Amino acid sequence: MDPVEQPNDGQGLTALSRSIAGLSALVTGAGSGMGRATAHLFASEGAKVAVTDVDRDAVATVVGEITTAGGLAEGWTLDVTSESEVDKVVGEVAERFGGLDLLINNAGISTFVAIDSPEYLTTWGRTIDVLLTAQTLTIRAALPHLRASESPRIVNIASTEGWGATRFASPYTAAKHGVIGLTKSMAVELGRDGITVNCICPGPIHTAMTASIDESDKTTFARRRTALGRYGLPEEVAHGTLNFCLPASSYMTGAVLPVDGGLLIRNA
Ligand code: NAI
Repeated sequence: MDPVEQPNDGQGLTALSRSIAGLSALVTGAGSGMGRATAHLFASEGAKVAVTDVDRDAVATVVGEITTAGGLAEGWTLDVTSESEVDKVVGEVAERFGGLDLLINNAGISTFVAIDSPEYLTTWGRTIDVLLTAQTLTIRAALPHLRASESPRIVNIASTEGWGATRFASPYTAAKHGVIGLTKSMAVELGRDGITVNCICPGPIHTAMTASIDESDKTTFARRRTALGRYGLPEEVAHGTLNFCLPASSYMTGAVLPVDGGLLIRNA
């Protein structure tokens, strides 16, 4: 329902919903880290959650966790770089859940490569495919279903690498800058359909992606670079994502939200 048509609360204010209960959500890369935390949070808020990941076992595990906790989740093995798989899974999710309202583009890999390495172009192609092109595939597949939704939301997960750069991470950094550009483009292009498109830039977060970094190195980095002086939790990022997905967040679009403990604003 268009927010301007929402019932008035009797005091001249429009009553907007802060509940995603009953909405249908698809999360990519939901087998681990921030995707898993997002799937759990959305299910605990009453959404029907499609847990998708390239890792089949992780999908089964997360679906089991959510179901045991009393949430509603179903799993699909999905490699987001495959257009045919994306089309098939998005169609199945929409059919199974009676539509699709919330698309969370989260799946990702971390890559490091020097510009003059023989591996550079292979790494570049793979990184752009998983982090950036995949988000266009899911958006294209989800579009007819989002257009039919009363509260359609897309949230793309970028990174603080979408603002700055880390040595030897040029494919990752370029992809994450691209995610921010794609978010803005989609916000403009899909706004007339009432679809909001926003983007989260996580800072350093404790997940499988950062698990190989030595704990003392993490502490040193976080104390030196973030305002809060610590790594973040995947759950803290999931709450940022949830905020964008509330029906009440109907006038927020094209936004780029750092969830980074203050990394981007810290000079010294
Ligand atoms: P993670 O490694 O815990 O989870 C990533 C998930 O994506 C895994 O379950 C993996 O199987 C899945 N995945 C990888 N390739 C896939 C593919 N082709 N198709 C489907 N699924 C695939 O990592 P994390 O940290 O939770 O990452 C989530 C997102 O957050 C990523 O986009 C990452 O780039 C981004 N990010 C992570 C940060 C961090 O500090 N952990 C910081 C900034 C951004």
